[in-house]
Amino acid sequence: MQFVKGLLNALVLQLLLLQLCSSLDTISFDQSIRDGDFLVSKNETFVLGFFRPGTSSNRYVGIWYKFSEDKVLWVANRDNPLNDTSGVLSINTDGNLILAHGNSSQGLPLWSTNVSVSSSGNNNIVAQLLDSGNFVLVQQDNQNVLWQSSDHPTHALLSSMKLGLDKKSGINRFLTSWNSNNDPGTGNCSLRMDTNGSPQLILYKNLAKWWRSGQWNGIQWGGIPAEGSNNVFKINFVNNQDEIAVEWSVLDPSIYSVITIDGTGSLNQLSWQGQQHQWVTLWSAPLDACDSYGKCGQFGACNPYTNSGFNCTCYPGYEPNSPHDWDLRDGTGGCKRPQGSPSMCRNGEGFVKMENVKVPDTSTIKLNRSLSFEACGEECLRNCSCLAYASADVRNGGSGCMAWFGDLMDTKQFTEGGQDLYIRADALVLAQYTKKSGGGFSAKDRRLAIILGVSIAVTSLLIVAALCWFRRRSRKGRGGQPELLNDAIAGSRSHEDLLKKNEVDEHRGKTDLPFFDLSTIVAATDNFSSANLLGHGGFGMVFKGCLADGQEIAVKRLSRNSGQGVEEFKNEVMLIAKLQHRNLVRLLGCCIDKEERMLIYEYMPNRSLDLCIFDKSRRSLLDWRKRFQIIIGIARGVLYLHQDSRLKIIHRDLKASNVLLDASMNPKISDFGMARMFGDDQIEANTNRVVGTYGYMSPEYAMDGLYSTKSDVFSFGVLALEIISGRKNNFHFENSSLNLVGQVNVGLVG
Ligand SMILES: *[C@@H]1O[C@H](CO)[C@@H](O)[C@H](O)[C@H]1NC(C)=O
Ligand SMILES: *[C@@H]1O[C@H](CO)[C@@H](O)[C@H](O)[C@H]1NC(C)=O
Ligand SMILES: *[C@@H]1O[C@H](CO)[C@@H](O)[C@H](O)[C@H]1NC(C)=O
Ligand SMILES: *[C@@H]1O[C@H](CO)[C@@H](O)[C@H](O)[C@H]1NC(C)=O
Ligand SMILES: *[C@@H]1O[C@H](CO)[C@@H](O)[C@H](O)[C@H]1NC(C)=O
Ligand SMILES: *[C@@H]1O[C@H](CO)[C@@H](O)[C@H](O)[C@H]1NC(C)=O
Ligand SMILES: *[C@@H]1O[C@H](CO)[C@@H](O)[C@H](O)[C@H]1NC(C)=O
Ligand SMILES: *[C@@H]1O[C@H](CO)[C@@H](O)[C@H](O)[C@H]1NC(C)=O
Repeated sequence: MQFVKGLLNALVLQLLLLQLCSSLDTISFDQSIRDGDFLVSKNETFVLGFFRPGTSSNRYVGIWYKFSEDKVLWVANRDNPLNDTSGVLSINTDGNLILAHGNSSQGLPLWSTNVSVSSSGNNNIVAQLLDSGNFVLVQQDNQNVLWQSSDHPTHALLSSMKLGLDKKSGINRFLTSWNSNNDPGTGNCSLRMDTNGSPQLILYKNLAKWWRSGQWNGIQWGGIPAEGSNNVFKINFVNNQDEIAVEWSVLDPSIYSVITIDGTGSLNQLSWQGQQHQWVTLWSAPLDACDSYGKCGQFGACNPYTNSGFNCTCYPGYEPNSPHDWDLRDGTGGCKRPQGSPSMCRNGEGFVKMENVKVPDTSTIKLNRSLSFEACGEECLRNCSCLAYASADVRNGGSGCMAWFGDLMDTKQFTEGGQDLYIRADALVLAQYTKKSGGGFSAKDRRLAIILGVSIAVTSLLIVAALCWFRRRSRKGRGGQPELLNDAIAGSRSHEDLLKKNEVDEHRGKTDLPFFDLSTIVAATDNFSSANLLGHGGFGMVFKGCLADGQEIAVKRLSRNSGQGVEEFKNEVMLIAKLQHRNLVRLLGCCIDKEERMLIYEYMPNRSLDLCIFDKSRRSLLDWRKRFQIIIGIARGVLYLHQDSRLKIIHRDLKASNVLLDASMNPKISDFGMARMFGDDQIEANTNRVVGTYGYMSPEYAMDGLYSTKSDVFSFGVLALEIISGRKNNFHFENSSLNLVGQVNVGLVG
C-alpha cells in the first residue's frame, strides 16, 4: 500500500515536472493560464500559478520559488479569492492582466492590473515572469514596462525589489502581512518607508507604530547595527529626486533569500538551506524588548542589557512621568523634566551626549543635510525649543543636521554601534552628567581618576581638619592670638591708619587708599612699555613697575573703552581697601587721572598659579608639601573673606589665574573685580548678570545666578583639584571627557 502510494506520488511529481519543463514564462495577448497551468521563469527559479494556502479551500494566483512551493512570495488576488478551480489569468482587450472566473467572463474580474494602456497595439503586450521573481506586463515593441509585481509587493521582499517611494509614479511600495497562514488577505501589519524627516522604515501593527528601523545614517539603518557587518547581503538606500527607496541584495547569487512580514508583526530575513530543504531565519525584527516602539516613552531610552531587568532610563535631566508605573516596570509613560527645573535656555546651558543610540523617531525632525555638525550644535543651541540634535550622516565624523523639537520617542541604547545624540540640558544637569559623556575611558584614565578622587577626599579632610583646628584656637582666645584674628586686627589697624593718612577728595570718594600720580606710575613702568607687560588682568593690562624707592609693583591698567570696567574698578578699590590678609594680594594704592584708572599692587615675583601648575617645566617646582601649603593658604584667604574679616565677601571669580604667588610661593588671592559684599546675616543673593569663569562656577550660580559663600567653595574645590592633578578643568559643553570634575566624578562613582 505504502509502496503504491509512493509510486503514485513519484508519478505525479514526474508529470508535474514534465508539465513545468514544457511551461512558458510568458502570457501573450491571445493566451491565458488556467488553474493547474504554471508560468516558469527562464532559468526555472520562480513559478507563477494557482495555489491553495494551508487548510483553506480558496484559490489564489501567486509566485513562489520552484524548489519551495509552500513559501508563496507574492499573491495577486489576496483579498478576492476564488472558491473553485475555474480561475483564468489572461490579458484582456485593453491590455491589462485580469483574473476571472472562467465561467463568468462578463462579471467583475477578481483581480486586474488596472493600468491604462494606449489603445494602439494592445496585441503587442505580454506578461512575463522574470528570473528575478518579478512578474511584468510589457509592451513588446518598446519594452515599456506597464506594470510589475515588484511595484505591488505583498508580504515578501525579494532581492533587488524596492521598498519605498517612487516619486515619478507616486507609488509607495510597502509590505503587508497575511491575515493568517490560511488567508493571504491584507493583514494588520505592514512595513513602510516613512519619508518624512529623515527616512526610516516603520513597521505598523494595527495602524500603530510597532518597530522602527532608525534613520538611514549613511551606512545602514541606525536601529540595526548588526546589519552593517554581515557578509550575506548588502543594503542599498537611495534618496534622490526620483525616489526614496531601499533594496537589498545577496552578495552570493547562489543564496536564495527573502524578507517577509508576518501577522505577529515580525520581520524575518529567511535564507534557503538546500541540503536541509528548509528556510532558516538570518535576522529578524523586533529582536529584543527595546525594539518595541516607544517602550520607554518620550525622553526615555531603552537599554536591553541591564542587570535589573528593567530596561528604561530617562534622558539626562529627565525623570519618570509616573514613578508609580516606573516602579511597576512600565516605562511607556516616558519621562519629563522635573518640576521647577531651571531654564535650559540661559547662560550656561548646553548638551549632554548620549553615545551609541538609535536616535529617536526622525519623522518630525527638522533636517538640513547641508549643515555641518558644528553648525548643527550652534543652530540647536540658538533655538530654545530645539531639544536635541544629531548628525544625519555619520560618515567622516558626521555631517548634516537633525534637530528635534517635540517629544523624543523611541530611543534605544546600544553597547556598540548606533550614533551620538546630543540632549539639551540645563547647567545643573550639565555639571551632573559630564561623566556620562566620558563613556570611553581607558583603564589608565580610570585609575588616574580614582587616584585623584582619593587624593581629593584626603586633602579635603586635611583642610577641614586644619580649619577646625584654626577655629578652635581662635575661639579659645588664649595661648597666643589666633593667626586669622591677628590678620583681621592688622587689617583694621592699617585701615584706620590709611584713613588718617589720606585726604578725601572727589575722586577718591569712599576709598581710603594712597593715591599715586600718573607721572609716578608712568615713570615706574617705563611708560607702560611692553617689556614690562605681565599679562591681561580682569579688565585690562597688568604691568610690572619699580617705584623710586626700589619697591616693585604691579600696575593694573583699566582698559579705557571698557565701560563695565569702571564699576568693577570702584568695587575692587572699595572692597580691597578694607581687607588685609597674608593670603590676599595687597593693594598699595590707586591712580585716577582723567580717563585713566589704575590699581597698584605689591609685585608677586612668581606670578599667577596657573602659570605654575599647568606648565610642564615649572610644575616640578611644586612638590606635594608646597601644593598642600598653597591649598591651605587659599583656604585661609577664602575663610577670611567669608567669615573672618569684618565684611562678608564673596569673591565670585576664584581661579588659578587669580591666585598669585609671592617669592616664597605663598598664595595670594587677587582680582576682586567681581566680588560682592554681603550683610552679616545674608546667606545668598541673586544676580541677573552671571559673571565669572566656566569650569569654576557652581551650577546654581551659572544657571540661576544664585551665589553665596558656597559658590566660592565650589570654585575652591575645582582649584584644589587642579593644583593636585596639574590638569585644567576645561569646561566643554559637548566634549566634556576633558572635564576634570567629570573625571573625578567617574573616579568616585565607579
Ligand atoms: C463561488 O463564488 C461565486 C461568486 O464569487 C458564487 O456565485 C458561488 O456560489 C460560490 N460557490 C461556492 C461553492 O461557494
Ligand atoms: C462552468 O460552468 C459549467 C456549466 O455552466 C459547469 O458545468 C462547469 O463545471 C463550470 N466550470 C467550473 C470550472 O466551475
Ligand atoms: C482601477 O483604477 C481606477 C483609477 O485608477 C480606480 O478608480 C478603480 O477602482 C480601479 N479598479 C480596480 C479593480 O482596482
Ligand atoms: C536565475 O537567474 C537569476 C537572475 O538572473 C539568478 O540570480 C539565479 O542565480 C539564476 N538561477 C539559476 C538556477 O540559474
Ligand atoms: C486586525 O485588526 C482588527 C481590528 O483591530 C482585528 O479585529 C482583527 O482581528 C485583526 N486581525 C488579525 C489577523 O490580527
Ligand atoms: C529588558 O530587556 C531584556 C532583553 O531584551 C528582556 O529580556 C527583558 O524582559 C526586558 N525587561 C522588561 C521589563 O521588559
Ligand atoms: C540649511 O543650511 C544651509 C547652510 O547653513 C542654509 O543655507 C540653508 O538655508 C538651510 N536650509 C534649510 C531648509 O534650513
Ligand atoms: C525654533 O525652531 C522652530 C522649528 O523650526 C521654529 O518654528 C521657531 O520659529 C524657531 N524659533 C526661533 C526663536 O528661531
